[in-house]
Amino acid sequence: MLEKAQQLKEQFVEKVNAATASAELEQLRIEFLGKKGPISSLMAELRNVPNEQKKEAGQIINEVKQFIEVTITAKKEELQKIEEQKLIDSAEDYDVTFPIDEDKGSYHPITLIQREVEDIFASMGFAIEDYDEIVDDYHCFEALNIPKHHPARDMQDTYYLSTNQLLKTHTSAAQNAIYIKYKNDLEAGKPIRAIFPGRCFRNEKIDACHENTFFQMEGVMVDKDISISNLIYFMKTMLSEVFQRDITVRLRPGFFPFVEPGFELDIQCAICGGKGCPSCKDSGWLELCPCGMIHPNVLSAAGIDPEEYTGFAFGLGLTRLAMMRYGVKDIRVFNSCSLKSLSQFENKTFVEPEKEVK
Ligand code: DAH
Repeated sequence: MLEKAQQLKEQFVEKVNAATASAELEQLRIEFLGKKGPISSLMAELRNVPNEQKKEAGQIINEVKQFIEVTITAKKEELQKIEEQKLIDSAEDYDVTFPIDEDKGSYHPITLIQREVEDIFASMGFAIEDYDEIVDDYHCFEALNIPKHHPARDMQDTYYLSTNQLLKTHTSAAQNAIYIKYKNDLEAGKPIRAIFPGRCFRNEKIDACHENTFFQMEGVMVDKDISISNLIYFMKTMLSEVFQRDITVRLRPGFFPFVEPGFELDIQCAICGGKGCPSCKDSGWLELCPCGMIHPNVLSAAGIDPEEYTGFAFGLGLTRLAMMRYGVKDIRVFNSCSLKSLSQFENKTFVEPEKEVK
C-alpha cells in the first residue's frame, strides 16, 4: 500500500510538472481525485488491509490526496497568473492608459465638425442633448404634425423594425421629448434653447450627395415673442462662426409640416464656388439648413401653449456641412471606413473655392 501510494505521488508530480495551462490542472484533478481515480481505488483497497495496519495506510492515502489537492490549487493559481499576464501583454494595443501618440488615430470629420458647432451653440446658451436612434412613429412623425398617410412621409422612408419602431429619419424626432424635458423651465421664465445632434437613416438611392446614414444637428428655441428675426439672427451668427468668413446664403420658402412658415437655407457650394459640380448637383447651391417657426400643433403636442409661446427650429445637415467645411466631394467617403481618407482632416482649415484659371 505504501509503495503504491508513493508511486502514485511520483506519477502525479511528473504530470503536474509537465502541465503548462491552467485548464490541464482540472483534468489532473479528475484523473487523480475523481470517483474512478487511483485515490478512490486505494481507499477501496483499504478493506483488504489487516486491521492493525488500516490506520497507518489510511493516513498515507490521505496525505497523498491532500498533497495532490494542494499542489493542483497552487499550480493552477501560478499558471493563471502567467496566462493573465500574457493576455495583458498581448492587449497592449488597447491600453487605454497609454499616452496618446499624435501620429496614431484621428477624429472622424463628422465628430470634428459636430464638436465645433456644439461649442458655438454652447457659447450662445444652448444645451446639448442626445437622443435615441431607434424611435417610434409618434416621435418621428405624429408629434411633428405628420399624421399617418401624410405625403411628407414619402420623403422619409426608413428602416422599420418588427417592434413597430424605426430608425429615425431626422433629428426632429427628438423635438417632442426636448420640449417636454424643458417645459417646466419655460414656464418658470427660462427659454428653451437646445441642440441635439444625431445619426439619421433613410432609404436613399446613394450617390455623391445622398447616403442612407448621415448626421444632422437639430436646434430649437422657444420663448415668449420669438420671431423670424430671431431665427435669421441665429442662423447667420452660427454659419459665420462655422465658416469663419462671409458665406453666401439664400433663404427660400420650404414646406415641413412641423414649421410654419418654413424655409430652406442654402449656402453657396464651397467646392465649386457656385459654378456647379456633382456635389451640388450642378446648381451651385447646397441645401444646408431647413428651418422655420415651430408649428402650433407641435408645441401643443408637448403641452406648450402656442398662444403664449413661439419658437424656431432648424435641422442642420451636419454631413453636408462637413463636406463643405473640408471640401469632401463625395458623401460616401464618410461611411467608407477608409482611414487614408478620414484621417486627414484634424488640422485642416477651410477649403477655399477652386479658383478659375484664366
Ligand atoms: N427634419 C427635416 C428633414 O430632415 C429638416 C428640418 C426642417 C428640421 C425644418 C427643422 C425644420 O427643424 O425647422 O428633412
